[in-house]
Amino acid sequence: MSKRILITGAFGQLGEAVIRELQPHFDLLATDIQIPETKSFLYQVKHLDITSRPGVMKIVKNFNPEIIINMAAYIDVDGCETNREIAWNVNVRGVEYLLEAIRRKKTRIIHISSDYIFNGENGPYKEKDIPNPINYYGKTKLASENAIRGSANPWVILRTNVLYGSSTRSRASFVNWVVTSLRQGKEITVVDDQIGNPTWTGGLAEAIKMAILLNVRGIFNYGGAEFLSRFQFAQKIANVFECDKSSVVPVSTDDLNQIAQRPLKSGLITNKIEDILGLRTYEVEYCLRKIKED
Ligand SMILES: NC(=O)c1ccc[n+]([C@@H]2O[C@H](COP(=O)([O-])OP(=O)(O)OC[C@H]3O[C@@H](n4cnc5c(N)ncnc54)[C@H](OP(=O)(O)O)[C@@H]3O)[C@@H](O)[C@H]2O)c1
Repeated sequence: MSKRILITGAFGQLGEAVIRELQPHFDLLATDIQIPETKSFLYQVKHLDITSRPGVMKIVKNFNPEIIINMAAYIDVDGCETNREIAWNVNVRGVEYLLEAIRRKKTRIIHISSDYIFNGENGPYKEKDIPNPINYYGKTKLASENAIRGSANPWVILRTNVLYGSSTRSRASFVNWVVTSLRQGKEITVVDDQIGNPTWTGGLAEAIKMAILLNVRGIFNYGGAEFLSRFQFAQKIANVFECDKSSVVPVSTDDLNQIAQRPLKSGLITNKIEDILGLRTYEVEYCLRKIKED
């Protein structure tokens, strides 16, 4: 019998890639607050709002998962700054409910976290660097990590940054936004002073699968093979999707006047996960071509 895996936030940007990677190997229950109107699924699907304690308790009791992969999150960084209660409820309390539901069981939990737990003054960051979030989203992600670390259940925290993938549904898709805007002939302004290593969701999904198969525990970073500004990343997207690169206009973070402060020099060093899980990380252009093929 294949392992029973409960996935939360399963129909978000990362969730779609994770389902695709895991579905052939495991018995999945994919949950989210909104279920796409696809006619048939090759796995079980249920509505779950992780901020509902009774909802979480019921799903965990009935499905009795051996593993939970938590990808449910409120990821709107400016939204988190102004809607702090929602941000805390989804990003922290929801995680606490999941942990409560598996207390005294052997269930493993794999939790996805973010480089936004760091201040972005001296990245890229290793797993052991000291967190110091500078916005509320980062604070909630750090609090969620602390909840996980305090659990007696076996756990993995997988930190990532600047996710991109084939998802068409997710509002979070940077690739969709760049390609759609440029194809509509719009000029887009993109920050040229926020650095990270953009992460293909397909690569991270492989990392999650390997973390399950090799039964590892602890904190791991996973990110792409190249450190780039968002502006450079958008230019690469324009290149691969044959859009007008000159319509990507650089802007500084200061000029954007966003509600939440952003870590600037960020990104994640991936040596640990490459060594322990024997994984590779991917160049942006290779991943964009895979997305284009999709
Ligand atoms: N995107 C990035 O660049 C990035 C970077 C670093 C780390 N991460 C982390 O990676 C994970 C996945 O992110 P993602 O990019 O895939 O985000 P996403 O596309 O927004 O996926 C998150 C999913 O969770 C759902 N959700 C929101 N509130 C929920 C609730 N109360 N109960 C259950 N599900 C809920 C969302 O539904 P709605 O879409 O309907 O809200 C969405 O389907 C998150 O933990 C995020 O913090 C993301």
